[in-house]
Amino acid sequence: MLTLLDEARTIMAAPPLLATPIYHDNVAENSQPVPMLDFSRQFAGLREEILSAIEKVCDSQQFILGPAVTGFEKAAAAACAAPHAVGCASGTDALWLALAAARIGPDAGGSSSDAVITTPFSFFATVSSILRAGAKPLLADIDPLTFNLSPTAVEEVLSSSAGQTVKAVLPVHLYGQCADWDAFAALRQRHHPLLLIEDAAQAFGAAWNGTPAGALGDLAAFSFYPTKNLSAFGDAGMLATLSADFDERARMLRGHGMRRRYYHDEIGWNCRLDSIQAAVLEVKLRYLPQWNRQRRDHAARYDRLFRAAGLAAANVREGIVLPFTDPRATPVFHQYVIRAPRRDQLRQYLADRHIGSEIYYPVPLHLQASLAGLGYKPGDFPLSEAAAAEVLALPIYPEIREDEQQTVVEAIAAFYA
Ligand SMILES: Cc1ncc(COP(=O)(O)O)c(C=O)c1O
Repeated sequence: MLTLLDEARTIMAAPPLLATPIYHDNVAENSQPVPMLDFSRQFAGLREEILSAIEKVCDSQQFILGPAVTGFEKAAAAACAAPHAVGCASGTDALWLALAAARIGPDAGGSSSDAVITTPFSFFATVSSILRAGAKPLLADIDPLTFNLSPTAVEEVLSSSAGQTVKAVLPVHLYGQCADWDAFAALRQRHHPLLLIEDAAQAFGAAWNGTPAGALGDLAAFSFYPTKNLSAFGDAGMLATLSADFDERARMLRGHGMRRRYYHDEIGWNCRLDSIQAAVLEVKLRYLPQWNRQRRDHAARYDRLFRAAGLAAANVREGIVLPFTDPRATPVFHQYVIRAPRRDQLRQYLADRHIGSEIYYPVPLHLQASLAGLGYKPGDFPLSEAAAAEVLALPIYPEIREDEQQTVVEAIAAFYA
């Protein structure tokens, strides 16, 4: 949770926005504050609509599941072209529900565990949810261009994991760009009955070859944590699945394993989606396609500004490496992430000028203290370790202004001048 807390602190520490943009010749000394995120801009435009949706839930007095949750689940399933969507309490719960619904965990005899292959370059929950389900995480390195799990590295882990029951591969659509689903779908075919589970926490509305995240894998987990591109007013999440069986099991598991009231068929958990959050999300979902388009436009503007400033380079020894978009992907730029030379000094320089930035993620999961028991060591995933040392996320959200993006790029240019 440290990362999320830090993220919240960065946002809260950001000074209030100036009403009138101010341009300075010397950005380094007189920079305009640019927050990493400013939730208030989105809320200002939706205030009436959201408050009225919340009021409706209050009037109905149906706070647990009920029409607000089923209404959102229906709309969200349609939005990601998945036949089934199950609302739940967080993205972490959605990952756990996906694994548990797919019967991935300790093997039936209890002497060993199912294994799931995933990436070390993600938020902690990607791996902790596998452990929470009673399964064993096996890690494979990333593709250095997209930062997503490498299908080739997964294939290598599969061929060296004799004696392990690998039940699923769990790619993350990091920063809002889908993992290479052509390769993962081919891998699924070759290793039948291997399942594919999407960690789509950062990617509502993203697509691969036109198929939305949520309809690519057998199951998919979404987070609606307040900084996500589709965000609730608190914690919330959702599981999407192509399978009626997994859908039925996820509904049972999110409500204490009950199919009939007070008859507990399995040891589930309480991880239902809050009705008020569902009402907020259903309003916001209607705006998401437009917000995702704006994010792509802002990303393209950053690209242009960096190129115009002569800062863009092919590798981090020569300059800033801009985000790479696979031509088959439709990203949502949940984050705009560059590789930056002298990254930590640059981040400090920006912070001194009240320009927000963030590192997703500074420590790859195989090097986290709490995951030492997985048995990995420094050097095991060099591409993830290099990424952790070089990546920097810059402010991006639908309402960010052009002058703010210019300020960010000018400050970065001043740092490297
Ligand atoms: C890639 C990834 N997976 C899982 C999660 C967990 O989601 P949540 O914070 O809603 O539990 C997050 C969100 O932080 C995430 O970014």
